[in-house]
Amino acid sequence: MINIAIDGPAGAGKSTIAKRVAKELSYIYVDTGAMYRAMALYLHRNGIDADDTQRIAAACTGADISIEYRDGEQVVLLGGENVNPYLRTQEVSAMASRSSAVPQVRTRLVELQQELAAARNVVMDGRDIGTVVLPDAQVKIYLTASVEVRARRRFLELQEKGEPAVLEEIAAEIAERDHRDMTREVSPLRQAEDAVLVDTSDMGIDEVADQILKIVREKTA
Ligand code: DC
Repeated sequence: MINIAIDGPAGAGKSTIAKRVAKELSYIYVDTGAMYRAMALYLHRNGIDADDTQRIAAACTGADISIEYRDGEQVVLLGGENVNPYLRTQEVSAMASRSSAVPQVRTRLVELQQELAAARNVVMDGRDIGTVVLPDAQVKIYLTASVEVRARRRFLELQEKGEPAVLEEIAAEIAERDHRDMTREVSPLRQAEDAVLVDTSDMGIDEVADQILKIVREKTA
C-alpha cells in the first residue's frame, strides 16, 4: 500500500490539498482531525468538561467511531450515526483541541487510522501522521504557513459565509492552538525528520498541489 502523510498546523490548507492529491491519484483521503472531532462530540454530548482529563480518559473507550466512504467523501459514524454535520462547531473544536491531548483518546484513534492505511492507498492528514501513525509512509509532507496568512484565509472564509469575524481575534486563536498542539506531551505537532517542508504562505492551491504531486512522483517512482 502507498501511504502519504500530510501534517501541519490548523489552517495551512492540509485538507484542501490532501483531498486534491487523493483525487488526482485515486487514493482514499483520510481526515484524522474529523476523528478527533467525532470523539470530542461524543464527550461533549456526554456532558464531560474539556478540562476533565480523567473523565475524558475513562469515557473515550465508550465511543464507537468508524469511517465509511460515501460518494468518495469520508463519513464519520458515531454509534452508527453520520455526525459530519456536527464536527465544525466552536464547542467541538475547543473540546477536540483539549481531548486530543489525552493519551487514551490518541491510542484508540491511531489504531483506527493504522487499520485504514494498511488496507488501502491513502492520503492521510493530521498532526502526528508522519511521526507516529504512519512512520513508514513513502511520502511525508509538512505543510505550513505563517500565522498571519492562515488567519487571513480563515477571516476571508468567514466573511464569505457572512459570519462576523475579527482578524486579530482569529490570529490569536490560531497562535494559541498552535502552541497547544506543539507543546502537548503526547504526539505533539512536529515535522518528521524525513518530511518535506512546504510553506504555503505565498502559494496558491494549484501550485501547492502540483508541488506535492511532483514530490509523490519522485518518491514513489
Ligand atoms: O485538523 P482539525 O482542526 O480538524 O483537528 C481537530 C483537532 O484534533 C485539533 O485540535 C488537532 C487535533 N488533531 C490531532 O491531535 N491529531 C491529528 N492527527 C489530527 C487532529
